[in-house]
Amino acid sequence: MSETNTKKVFIKTYGCQMNVYDSDRMTDALSEHGYAPTTEMGEADLVLLNTCHIREKAAEKVYSELGRIRDFRDERGPGAKKMLIGVAGCVAQAEGDEIMRRAPAVDLVFGPQSYHRLPELVAKAGAERVIDTDFPEEDKFAHLPQPRREATIKRGLTAFLTVQEGCDKFCSFCVVPYTRGAEVSRPVAQVIAEARALADAGVREVTLLGQNVNAYHGLNDNGRSVGLGELCHMLADIEGLERIRYTTSHPRDMDDDLIAAHRDLDKLMPYLHLPIQSGSDRILKAMNRRHTAAEYLELIEKIREARPDMALSGDFIVGFPGETEEDFEATLDIVRKVGYASAFSFKYSTRPGTPGAEMDDQVPEPVKAERLERLQAEINALQTAFNAGCVGMTFPVLIEKPGRNPGQVAGRSPYLQPVHIEADESLIGQILPVEITGTAKNSLSGTIVTGKAQAV
Ligand code: 5AD
Ligand code: SF4
Repeated sequence: MSETNTKKVFIKTYGCQMNVYDSDRMTDALSEHGYAPTTEMGEADLVLLNTCHIREKAAEKVYSELGRIRDFRDERGPGAKKMLIGVAGCVAQAEGDEIMRRAPAVDLVFGPQSYHRLPELVAKAGAERVIDTDFPEEDKFAHLPQPRREATIKRGLTAFLTVQEGCDKFCSFCVVPYTRGAEVSRPVAQVIAEARALADAGVREVTLLGQNVNAYHGLNDNGRSVGLGELCHMLADIEGLERIRYTTSHPRDMDDDLIAAHRDLDKLMPYLHLPIQSGSDRILKAMNRRHTAAEYLELIEKIREARPDMALSGDFIVGFPGETEEDFEATLDIVRKVGYASAFSFKYSTRPGTPGAEMDDQVPEPVKAERLERLQAEINALQTAFNAGCVGMTFPVLIEKPGRNPGQVAGRSPYLQPVHIEADESLIGQILPVEITGTAKNSLSGTIVTGKAQAV
């Protein structure tokens, strides 16, 4: 084997699902240049941190991790092979120069729009420190290799597929429009080709990704703009692909076509992540969300008319500047009214360069902590109730992998709940009707129903 064939890359991924997708694309790009992925940092010729900038804590983690990696490299002694250290992702994009300054051990810094140039950047970084955080003109997706068949097979039955990137909404708390840039949709043919390749490699469920995925407006071969609802119809025609999900959506972009797709397409799963962030109109305005709480509730009603069993999920921020106890109670109120199946909640984190960082009336940390606790208690109670309501129901579960114990398998319900089943591993890959018999904190358990029609 030649030396190039033996190189190894170790990637550590932080943050959202898009970063998970991006790390896989980087692995695929590098594998064409003789790098094999490894899960052991000690074996690596190249260590990449794929970073997240969404909250302060996420960004700070990068510097402490870089310190650890530097120490690890130094301790290997002079005889050890060379190990390059690179920082990718949103911290690289937002703070590239600062990383170069604060972390001299770093050889390479590059933003999310440069991934297709990674092999070239790595080659350069062997000789000098490299930083690349431009937003290039060319379409990175057109230059990134397709997911590799063998790699896709190894990654399992579910896959992410980025269809849209960036954001033009400029919510006043959010760094995404700065780190990921303007909203861009991938052309329809590119998305379909990638989805076909995934299905061909055994993927049964695809989750379409985008910071504003329901704003998708990719061009088809005739130059016509196609929305997410129409795209879902096209994906549903792909043989072998049995389930479609998408995340994350903005309420303003939830159009009638997409809602109708939830009514018409069995393959489109009845689970929707639709963040509102706050239940107070005053705070929604300050956040620049451009809709009211009442408009959101009307939208939810419309969605539930189309798909009565739709499970909803959301994101919430507590302690946005100016948030009073009354504003916060409006958030608790909307959480109860919607009855979320699950939700994520965060303390507001000041992000440099966003309008929120300049606002008066920043909320003290202890107040944020207290509100977060109350909100999470409410969300947990709803999640428990939602899971309890599933007991006795039968729904199709995609059996994904072996379970924790021998003789167990694990999969997901249509509503994204993990389901543990006593069944043989030979069933992995199938979608089978499962009767739910019990619940744990974050999962369900059930048994496969034989000789009975599926309830959903
Ligand atoms: N502080 C706290 N949470 C944030 N989010 C985005 N920006 C911030 C911030 N500055 C949350 C939002 C978003 C999710 C991905 O992260 O709820 O929907
Ligand atoms: Fe950030 Fe989402 Fe708002 Fe865009 S829509 S600015 S990604 S929170």
